[in-house]
Amino acid sequence: MSIDRATRTRPSAAGESETPPLLEVSDLRVRFSRHGRHVHAVNGLSYRLQPGRMLAIVGESGSGKSVSVRSLMGLLPPTAEVTGSVRLDGVELVGMPEKEIRAHRGADIAMVFQDPARSLNPTMRIGDQITEGIRAHADVDRAQARERAVELLRLVRLAAPEQRFHEYPHQLSGGMRQRVVIAIALSARPRLLIADEATTSLDVTTQAQIMELLLDLQERLDMAVILISHDLGLAASYAEDVIVMYAGRAVEHARTADLFEHVRMPYTRALLGAIPVLDRQPHTLLPVIPGQPPDLARLPEGCAFRPRCSSAGDRCAQPPPFAEHEPGHWWACWHPVTDDEEASS
Ligand SMILES: Nc1ncnc2c1ncn2[C@@H]1O[C@H](COP(=O)(O)OP(=O)(O)OP(=O)(O)O)[C@@H](O)[C@H]1O
Ligand code: SF4
Ligand SMILES: [Mg+2]
Repeated sequence: MSIDRATRTRPSAAGESETPPLLEVSDLRVRFSRHGRHVHAVNGLSYRLQPGRMLAIVGESGSGKSVSVRSLMGLLPPTAEVTGSVRLDGVELVGMPEKEIRAHRGADIAMVFQDPARSLNPTMRIGDQITEGIRAHADVDRAQARERAVELLRLVRLAAPEQRFHEYPHQLSGGMRQRVVIAIALSARPRLLIADEATTSLDVTTQAQIMELLLDLQERLDMAVILISHDLGLAASYAEDVIVMYAGRAVEHARTADLFEHVRMPYTRALLGAIPVLDRQPHTLLPVIPGQPPDLARLPEGCAFRPRCSSAGDRCAQPPPFAEHEPGHWWACWHPVTDDEEASS
């Protein structure tokens, strides 16, 4: 079965929910053009996210993870051309005038990045940075904003929040700073929080604490979370659904357990094989898969993974359709891994 990515409305990877999606991305494409050279960073990405769920988007460096979510926030430079459809609560965001976009997305979607130090202003007390965020989105006076800021610091489980309120970022550890960044992200009460490698710069213990916090907030605030990571192991520990991206496309999408028990894409299997390397060296950023990802300015014909794929055959010269081959399990591959192959590998 194949699908038309541009028009097909599909269920979540779980396939079980008829709740209207919070976010519906259809055939999203992002192209950067400079001096006549076109970089195809996102090449037809489609997915749906239900309220209150955690979706992980994983893939090697350069696969388009960040660009795809930055396009939801209107955070791309003017050289980016965005097409396709992004609906937030049914409202189309692609093509919306800049001003409206800010008002609309600013409150509903918040983002947390990798480096907390760079997300904070080093010359401002953290309390002021949070109250500024609160007052940008709500009509409250100073005292109310202060009260809410302390509440937020408590919510992100920062110890001694009243005292920390008056401190500067350099007085906090990396993990504490990321908690403050998350508190600022929550100040607009977003319905969707995007964490782009939000724990990558932290040590393993702090990483786990921040992930537990995100999970707790997702449940308590009924907030949807998109977790962007190069680390499939981390994604598997926390997210309910996983999208694996390669060369700007989704190549496999399933419930996390299904993906691990019945992996279908040779690329996903290669990523899984790369996990032990990441475990031994937690700060290694790139999974070790032989070969290089394709040049996004000159995408190969057919399956983009073909030059690196040990299962490739003649058919792979044609692009494999991204389709729901098993209930709730989507992939794009002509020669998927079978359960028997997986068991014997
Ligand atoms: N402003 C830009 N101008 C031109 N190309 C860009 C721009 N931003 C990103 N790209 C290109 O788009 C592609 C996807 O980048 P993106 O940052 O989304 O990758 P990623 O999957 O998030 O990687 P990483 O894991 O390293 O963060 C890359 O080839 C990148 O070089
Ligand atoms: S379509 Fe072919 S080249 Fe692409 S992942 Fe599947 S087997 Fe490999
Ligand atoms: Mg990135």
